[in-house]
Amino acid sequence: MALLSIHPLPQVSNFCVKAPRVFVNNSTSKRAENLKKPYSTKCRTMHDQVTHSMPPEKIEIFNSLENWASENVLVYLKPVEKCWQPQDFLPDPNSDGFYEQIKEMQGRAKEVPDDYFVVLVGHMITEEALPTYQTMLNTFDGVRDETGTSPTSWATWTRAWTAEENRHGDLLNKYLYLSGRVDMRAVEKTIQYLIGSGMDPKGENNPYLGFIYTSFQERATFVSHGNAARLAKQQGDLKLAQICGLIAADEKRHENAYSKIVQKLFEIDPDTTMLAFADMMRKKISMPAHLMYDGRDSNLFDHFAAIAARLGVYSARDYADVMEHLVNYWEVEKLTGLSPEGRKAQEFVCGLPRRIKIIEEKAQDRAKQAPSLPLSWVYDREVSL
Ligand SMILES: [Fe+2]
Ligand SMILES: [Fe+2]
Repeated sequence: MALLSIHPLPQVSNFCVKAPRVFVNNSTSKRAENLKKPYSTKCRTMHDQVTHSMPPEKIEIFNSLENWASENVLVYLKPVEKCWQPQDFLPDPNSDGFYEQIKEMQGRAKEVPDDYFVVLVGHMITEEALPTYQTMLNTFDGVRDETGTSPTSWATWTRAWTAEENRHGDLLNKYLYLSGRVDMRAVEKTIQYLIGSGMDPKGENNPYLGFIYTSFQERATFVSHGNAARLAKQQGDLKLAQICGLIAADEKRHENAYSKIVQKLFEIDPDTTMLAFADMMRKKISMPAHLMYDGRDSNLFDHFAAIAARLGVYSARDYADVMEHLVNYWEVEKLTGLSPEGRKAQEFVCGLPRRIKIIEEKAQDRAKQAPSLPLSWVYDREVSL
């Protein structure tokens, strides 16, 4: 993610069997031109875009896992009737006490500082760009929803996962609207820009890379919503803590599902999975909302990420912890029978969390007094980075 100050290590793609490349121009005049076209991601994606890097014969692996996925992945979905809905945690517009409840909610929100609201807005905007994530899942070869109602386990998961995720943005959006603390028009503009820009996870239509990305991301969102819940509790807003905690619990369930898929891939195709894990780590996991823009601040994501790190919601240290967790969960250190490249990838991945932590500690020692800047989401009030 953008917070990491490590330099990307040399990139070796081990998947480029059939990899048409799109060259992205990075000249100064192009960049200036692209700033006028904020939906364009060209000014911020400086790498060759690789597509369809999984050898076509590997699609058979995902077809053969159809029943396995039905029994081992779909079980992580919750039946709709047992799911919470945003309305369970919001004032009921049909009740007599509606306005009283909003007043009480706004009273609690008054005690919460602006920087915390900026983080919550960042979380909400990330959740609201859900159309992009469903699109992204449907770029993966061998597991995409081919029709929109495909009955395969992979497609069933993607649709139901999307439907579960949709509640997160809805709840946070309505909460933030009713809190009266944020400039909803500026926030809504940011969402529109973000969905228009898309995302660049470097998944190459490759489900090996893609499911490693989603495992990482679900864990990262579990950590950040969980920390947001902890801070809300410290600030005395127990209802907000409950909202963030519920979302974190969903993310954890999703993390379990995606991690199970990758665990299975390690079991049946360890070398390819090992190389994919190393490849994703070399490229670094970009956050889903890394292209966010509010029409004004072209470093908006970095500013949001800096505030989230300063508050202890999500930092480079968490990034390293997520990686370490996955290395342990997939028992990467214990893998045997790998090719020489696979062993190199294994060594690289196993040593990476420790290296990131060392670099991060040094960066923290060098950290200067944080500057502050006005942010559109909180009516241009100054917030320290
Ligand atoms: Fe979510
Ligand atoms: Fe999620």
